[in-house]
Amino acid sequence: MRSISEPVRSARITGWGMHAPSQVLTNADLERMVDTSDEWIVSRTGIRERRVAGPNETTASMAAVAGRRAIAVAGLEPDDIDLILVATLTPDHWTPATAALVKEAVGNTRAAAMDVGAACSGFIYGYATAHAYVTSGLARHVLVIGSELLTRFLDYGDRATCILFGDGAGAIVLSASPEPPGPHGIELTTEPAGAYMIWLPAGGARRPSSADTVARGEHYLRMEGRDVYRFATRTLATTAQAAIERAGLRPDDIDLFIPHQANSRIIEAVARGLGLPMERMFVNVDRYGNTSAASIPIALAEAVDSGRIRMGDRIVVVAFGAGFTSGAVALEWTADPAHGARAATVDPATIRIRAPLDWDSVDPIPARLAEVLAMPGPGTVPLDDVVPGEPAHAPTEVPG
Ligand code: ACO
Repeated sequence: MRSISEPVRSARITGWGMHAPSQVLTNADLERMVDTSDEWIVSRTGIRERRVAGPNETTASMAAVAGRRAIAVAGLEPDDIDLILVATLTPDHWTPATAALVKEAVGNTRAAAMDVGAACSGFIYGYATAHAYVTSGLARHVLVIGSELLTRFLDYGDRATCILFGDGAGAIVLSASPEPPGPHGIELTTEPAGAYMIWLPAGGARRPSSADTVARGEHYLRMEGRDVYRFATRTLATTAQAAIERAGLRPDDIDLFIPHQANSRIIEAVARGLGLPMERMFVNVDRYGNTSAASIPIALAEAVDSGRIRMGDRIVVVAFGAGFTSGAVALEWTADPAHGARAATVDPATIRIRAPLDWDSVDPIPARLAEVLAMPGPGTVPLDDVVPGEPAHAPTEVPG
C-alpha cells in the first residue's frame, strides 16, 4: 500500500458491480423441504426466490467477480487498488481473511487486504472505513465488497430461518477526488443488548467445533425473528435520519433509499417512519432474499444499472444486522451510470481462487438443499437460462 501526496478533498464512488450465482431456489422448492408455503413467505417477507452458490463457488470467488466488475466500471486496473475490504459473516475460512484470497483473484499485487465483521451492516462499516482511508490520504482507491454464502450455514429443518437467506456479492470502488465534497453523512451504531438475537453459536473460541456441537446443530445461523424485526424497524429509520442530518439534508431531499434487503415489510415500515412513499425505496428482496453484507452493494449496482440513480441524485444506503449493528450513508451520486456497461467485460469463468495444497474438501452443499435442487421442477432452471417471453417449461400434456 502506498499513501498519496496530492491534496484529497473528497472520496467518491467510481465503480460498482455485482455477482449472483445462477442457481435459483424458489419458495416452491422450500415447500418441499419444510412446512411452509409460498403465500406465507411472500406475505411475511416479500421474498419469492433466492440464489444458491454452486459447489465450485465460495464467498471469495463471488467477491472477486463483483470486485473485478467494480474495478472495470471505475475504469481502473486491478493494481490501482490500494486497499481491499471484504465484509462478510460467511468467510471461506476462519483464517486467512477472505480479502487476501480476493486480492490475488482480482489480479492485484500491492493492496492491503482485510475483512470487516459487522454482519448485514458490514458493507456500510466497510464504506466508512474506506472513506476514512481515502480522505486521510492513506489510500487513493479502495475496493469495498460485501459477499455472503449463507445457504451453507442454514438449518434446512428450521422454517423460521431457512426461507430468508441467499447468496451473492456486490462491490464498489471509492476513489480520492480533488473536487470539494458534496452533501455527505455517515452514522454507525452497535447495540450489544441484541448480541444473541442473531448468532452462530459454535465454531468460535467460546464453543469450539466438536461432534457435540455438530450434533446439536450449533453451526447454523439462529435468530429471534420478532426481536430482530422490532430492532430493524426502529433503527433503520433513526440511523438513516442521523446520516441525512449529518449531510445537512432532510428525508424529503433524498431521491432514493437503498435499505438492507431483509424483509419488504421492514422496508415499508421504514418508509412510513420517514414519511416517504415506497417509490423512494429500492426493493429487490423478492429476487435475492437476505444476502446480508452483500445486500446493499447488490441493490446499489442494480439501482444504478436500471436507471433508478442518476448523476446528482441524493441517495441513502442503510443497514442493520447481527450485533446489533446498524449503519447509514447519505451521499450525492457523482459517477456516470453509463460506465456500468463496462462490467460486462468481466467473465466469471476467468476468476480463480487459490486452493489449498494436498487437501480434499467435503461436498460443500448441505444434503437437504442438494436433494431439492436435484429434483425436476422450477428450481432446477437457472434464471439466466430462461428466455424472456418463453414459458420456462414445456406445457403439461392433458390426456384427451
Ligand atoms: N412458514 C410458515 N409458518 C412459519 C414459518 C414459515 N417459513 N416460519 C414461522 N412460521 C410460523 C411460526 O411457527 C408461528 O406459528 P405459531 O403462531 O403457530 O407459533 C407463526 O408462523 C408466526 O411466527 P413469527 O416468527 O411470529 O412470524 P413473524 O410474523 O414475526 O415473521 C419473520 C417471521 C419473517 C422471520 C420476521 O420476524 C422477520 O422478518 N424478522 C426479521 C428477520 C430479519 O430481518 N433478519 C435479518 C437478519 S440480519 C443479519 O445480520 C443476518
